[in-house]
Amino acid sequence: MEKILIIDFGSQVTQLIGRRLRELNVYCEIHPFNKFPQLDSDVKGIILSGSPCSVRDENAPKVNLAGIKGRYPILGICYGAQYLAQNYGGCVNASIAREYGRAMLEVTDAESPLLKGVSRSSQVWMSHGDTIACLPLGAHVIASTADVENAAYSIDGEPTYAVQFHPEVFHTSEGSRILANFALDICGCSGDWTPASFIDTAIAEIRAKVGDDKVILGLSGGVDSTVAGVLLNKAIGHNLSCIFVNNGLLRKNEFEDVLESYKDMGLNVIGADASAEFLSALSGVSEPEKKRKIIGRLFVETFDRYARRIENARWLAQGTIYPDVIESAGINGTASKIKSHHNVGGLPEEMNLSIIEPLRSLFKDEVRRVGRALGIKDELISRHPFPGPSLGIRILGDVTEEKLKVLREADDIFIRGLRNYSLDGNKSAIEALAGPGAERVMSASDPTIEAHTLYDAIWQAGVILLPVKSVGVMGDERTYESTVALRAVISTDGMTADWVHLPYDFLASVSNEIINRVRGVNRVCYDVSSKPPATIEWE
Ligand code: XMP
Repeated sequence: MEKILIIDFGSQVTQLIGRRLRELNVYCEIHPFNKFPQLDSDVKGIILSGSPCSVRDENAPKVNLAGIKGRYPILGICYGAQYLAQNYGGCVNASIAREYGRAMLEVTDAESPLLKGVSRSSQVWMSHGDTIACLPLGAHVIASTADVENAAYSIDGEPTYAVQFHPEVFHTSEGSRILANFALDICGCSGDWTPASFIDTAIAEIRAKVGDDKVILGLSGGVDSTVAGVLLNKAIGHNLSCIFVNNGLLRKNEFEDVLESYKDMGLNVIGADASAEFLSALSGVSEPEKKRKIIGRLFVETFDRYARRIENARWLAQGTIYPDVIESAGINGTASKIKSHHNVGGLPEEMNLSIIEPLRSLFKDEVRRVGRALGIKDELISRHPFPGPSLGIRILGDVTEEKLKVLREADDIFIRGLRNYSLDGNKSAIEALAGPGAERVMSASDPTIEAHTLYDAIWQAGVILLPVKSVGVMGDERTYESTVALRAVISTDGMTADWVHLPYDFLASVSNEIINRVRGVNRVCYDVSSKPPATIEWE
């Protein structure tokens, strides 16, 4: 299968390169710089990513491009562009001012295959502290900005290109065109990688990997694990057993509702109630990473216990997707560690199961597309993401039964409200959710979901219980009760997100209903932070 290799030097946006290529139906793989993969005839080109490091540092990440540069098409992005300059006869200096944000790119060589069809002047996104002061040998400039003369260059007589800006981010308005020029024209990829072809390849890979072994899968009711389950079921049928763990931290009625929704899908699902264990292990623990670690460990232990009851169970399948991996990667992985996502912590050695994660390279909207191609019903496909650690990371501070009860009720009111607020046919109301002005729109939610209601139009919503009490007044009585925050975001992949401009009438009615009905809450706030710098979950 033809592919492009993306060599990851650790930039937070490396995975977006992959995403843009897949939008072009080009298959690609992201590999850390220190695990450079074997090159075979399937490899059509190589992209060198950005990095938080400086090429001038002694310990800067390095790759050996001997026998590769000149033979395979290469596109260096940001650090990648500087790396090519530094190592092939050019030079890189510290910028006088660090350059972050928007810039206007002026094409200086309209004949360059990389810039074919790109407007003479277009917006790009810069994020660098170093600048390419002189080009590598045999190179010439193909585009510049007001501050960066060598904003894009190519090396004559070989298919080597480099850009100082990030074509993969939304703010580079013609970035997809540049990546298409590289992948389709310069590398010659045919662009025929689709969800259907992913399914065929994934099924073949699963069969080759597990053979006749038994596999157990942790189902959560979310899109990712459901799609993983249906895919595995297609590949190995009755050799798959799915376990849905009640961790005691689920939303109102979720355990029962989710088990019910799996009934007619042909999956073999076991409901495992481990809520007492989770709640007792979390008792008195307030630190977010500690809570995440405890929850992760207990998930694994619960699976292990159930797996031992299944003869020949050798594999633990998980619905891990790409953003889970990248946000948990740690310095060697290589993006900076932000949070430990519950399902990427690895397995204890004594556990006799190997992990299989068929969706590990996909983004959420790609998973949804694969899910639709597998015939999964829309009700499941369009569910908002819900984190594995569940309400455990939406109760700030320690988790108790009492707090869970309060949060479940408030969350239920908010989510029901979103589902009941009709948007049918009101295009301007949908657009208004992103807020006024295109500048603020970082990304639109999954365009493949039809927005019948507020719930459909947004990426994810939930309520957070804050460890804050405040004074209120109800029926002439003083109250001293908790505060909840409502969170609703628009995103395409969870990597970046913006808060939703929910209609005031909606916020007013949800706030009213929560305060009137949920005992213990006398104040409702709305979270107006984007990611970055905030994250979607509060912990
Ligand atoms: P953050 O809070 O990092 O979340 O902006 C990004 C997306 O990931 C979800 N999330 C998780 N999903 N296991 C998961 O499966 C986890 O441990 C986890 N933590 C966060 C989050 O809900 C959002 O969609």
